Amino acid sequence: MSNTPSSVAGLSEPRADSSSPIAQPAPPLWLLAELTYRCPLHCAFCYNPLDYARHDRELDTAQWRRVLTEARALGAAQLGFSGGEPLLRDDLEELVAHARGLGFYTNLITSGVGLTDARLAALREAGLDHIQLSFQDSTREMNDFLSSTRTFALKQRVATLIKAHGYPMVLNCVLHRYNLPHVGAIIEMALEMGAEYLELANTQYYGWAWENRLALMPTETQLREAEAVVAAYREKIGKRCRILFVVPDYYETRPKKCMNGWGSVFLGVAPDGAALPCHAARGLPGLTLPNVAEQSLSDIWYHSDAFQRFRGTAWMPEPCRSCDERENDLGGCRCQAFLLTGDPARTDPVCDKSPDHARVREVVMHGASAALAGHATASEYPLVFRADAASRAFASGDAKAR
Ligand code: SF4
Ligand code: FES
Repeated sequence: MSNTPSSVAGLSEPRADSSSPIAQPAPPLWLLAELTYRCPLHCAFCYNPLDYARHDRELDTAQWRRVLTEARALGAAQLGFSGGEPLLRDDLEELVAHARGLGFYTNLITSGVGLTDARLAALREAGLDHIQLSFQDSTREMNDFLSSTRTFALKQRVATLIKAHGYPMVLNCVLHRYNLPHVGAIIEMALEMGAEYLELANTQYYGWAWENRLALMPTETQLREAEAVVAAYREKIGKRCRILFVVPDYYETRPKKCMNGWGSVFLGVAPDGAALPCHAARGLPGLTLPNVAEQSLSDIWYHSDAFQRFRGTAWMPEPCRSCDERENDLGGCRCQAFLLTGDPARTDPVCDKSPDHARVREVVMHGASAALAGHATASEYPLVFRADAASRAFASGDAKAR
């Protein structure tokens, strides 16, 4: 699984006024079905929760079919199949066909492991619209190191197969200080593969990426240089390949409008049926996540405390409450506020109006000075790879988050 997107790209703005109190919020537009936490890769920047091993129950096929039906009835139009690695579910083709029958636009977000010629044909037949394939780097060494697997050659083969089956080539690569200096080579690789679209997503620090933040955080110079390389390529290649460069908001002075607003357009469902207002909501304290096995999606979306908690602006503390920019960013990211301050209801510290803004600067400076001191591969900040054993250790308290 890749890192998390910084926003809900490609979706239109919420249709209801996002100011609070919200009498009747607009329905969700985007359903993310995290079919499983199982994954053959061990990426150090994965957004899945550190203690995912605690939640090893998975919804069965009938339950997922019901979730898709209910989400479509609510109004959701885009559907992402994600994980973990969604191809580890044998019923993926059935779920895609069901979604297609309901009228969803479907997207498979995959590492490519398990995407054989036969499965691609079956997914095509089932009506899958779109595939996003992740790479970790342009070189076999770094790709395989960052995912702690030998998957580079396999991903190359899968990329060829995706093309052969008539899909547009959509590549994703999560960036951090290990691979930011390779951005040019990553773009060259994408061009060679005939990619129509390349998402270069700078790491967002949640889950395993948060755990590894001091090892992954780039220097500002690395970022600006990579940005310049991207700009030069955009100029050179024009429309041949669309390159999206998602800047990490730790380097900004205003936060992102995370998920386009809490409970606004995004509805995630975790493998065990927990309904998620955002990718990382599972880690927020004091938030009881409703479960789709026990409640209808409509009830969850419109009435659950978890989805109401940070909807609109009524929950905001100062300085957001009286800020004239509050409708622009809706106070930023709740998960980032929690990770940096211990309180999900505080203003996102990325904002330089936040009294906690210094904490972001601290993390950035700490990471950057580690990078400058050459600790990228040093033992001072060894990467913690996403793996079941490590997750079980976090779940049992044997391992402490850093
Ligand atoms: Fe946004 Fe709050 Fe900062 Fe204002 S104070 S810009 S609403 S995060
Ligand atoms: Fe931004 Fe949770 S990831 S609100």
